[in-house]
Amino acid sequence: MPSGIVLSNGHTWKQQRRFGAVTMRNLGLGKKGMEHQIEEEAQQLVEIFARAKGQPLDPLLPITNAVSSLICVLSFGYRFSLEDEEFQQMMEAVDFLLKFGGSFCHAVTEVFPRLMKRLPGPHQKALFSAAMVLSFTKREIEKHKEQQSFHEPRDFIDFYLLQIEKSKGDPNSTYDEDNLAECILDLFIAGTETTATSLQWALLLMVAYSDIQEKVHREIAGVFGSSHAICYQDRHKLPFTNAVVHEVLRAKFMLPVGIPRRSVKDVNMQGFTIPKNTIVITDLRSVLLDPEQWETPEEFNPHHFLDKDGHFVAREEFLPFGAGARMCLGEQMAKMELFLFFSNLLKVFRFQLPEGVKELRKEPVMGLTFHPHPYKLCAVPRTGLS
Ligand code: HEM
Repeated sequence: MPSGIVLSNGHTWKQQRRFGAVTMRNLGLGKKGMEHQIEEEAQQLVEIFARAKGQPLDPLLPITNAVSSLICVLSFGYRFSLEDEEFQQMMEAVDFLLKFGGSFCHAVTEVFPRLMKRLPGPHQKALFSAAMVLSFTKREIEKHKEQQSFHEPRDFIDFYLLQIEKSKGDPNSTYDEDNLAECILDLFIAGTETTATSLQWALLLMVAYSDIQEKVHREIAGVFGSSHAICYQDRHKLPFTNAVVHEVLRAKFMLPVGIPRRSVKDVNMQGFTIPKNTIVITDLRSVLLDPEQWETPEEFNPHHFLDKDGHFVAREEFLPFGAGARMCLGEQMAKMELFLFFSNLLKVFRFQLPEGVKELRKEPVMGLTFHPHPYKLCAVPRTGLS
């Protein structure tokens, strides 16, 4: 029986998901919470980009490190130094698991787990990688238990250990340390590449559409000048910037389909019968590019999220995070990260092509996920801004 959140089902999923949602909310709110951590991480990212002094740089590694550090803060309560060897090994393991997920070998391993355990192949490295992340997480759980920090919970592990305490004696409880470790593995796998890829797309599109980039910068500079570090609440004062972030998630969705699920009962939907036990895969692409809903579905057009007076409008058809009971658990966190990283970077830098490069490829590398071809850009500091 799969544990954690992403692949679990039934009672286990219900409990872990509900706990995860409440805890993400508890950790996300307020100045001391995740929001403040994301603001700090955004400033660190600005510093890393500034160190390149306008020379060509591949943004993938700094962005991935920033996003992974935030999952560490959420799960363990602190970020690792980027030079930390154990952290780097863990990131490599997560990266491998993501690449392995959805491959043919992965499918065979899911169907014949016992047989595959004995055979050589890339699944052995995947099993090793998952075991490594789980054992790293278990060591963190032990540290939290020793420090007894769950009496004043500050991170996912603290809240979970408290929940285990509260549920002692409840025969229906699925809260245990194995499930906790799986939940954290899920947060790393579901929350790292998704967010990092979206920000990579955002910067690429700003280079490709320099008029939109200038408009974003002018909006930010007009509202805040040079001194103010932007916080999430500020999105209400920056409707164009907010619309650009949403349009990146729509036009350059990185997950064309949702995670395959199985119907638990016969369902009748718009005249179609979906029998019990049918595998259902949501086609997110069909919604995000629906020509009946979006004015220019194939074009990158931030006006999809603006009314005629330039106010931000939320759209029902905006479903990059899926819909229903199994929709993304990290939507709020991802939106916060993308808005804060993007706006703080655009405030300080002009992103442009390296000398001699004519244009960046805008079509995605097609796979289980849609990500950009590797690219380099120049982050040129805007004069007079801190
Ligand atoms: C731009 C960033 C992100 C995108 C586009 C995204 C998108 C998605 C999608 C499409 C699903 C599947 C929904 C379905 O099957 O119907 C999903 C599930 C999930 N996501 Fe995200 N996600 C993002 C970031 C995050 C982050 C930052 C976290 C956590 C820190 C996260 C945690 C999860 C979890 C735990 C699930 C499984 C939910 C369940 O099975 O109940 N995601 N996400």
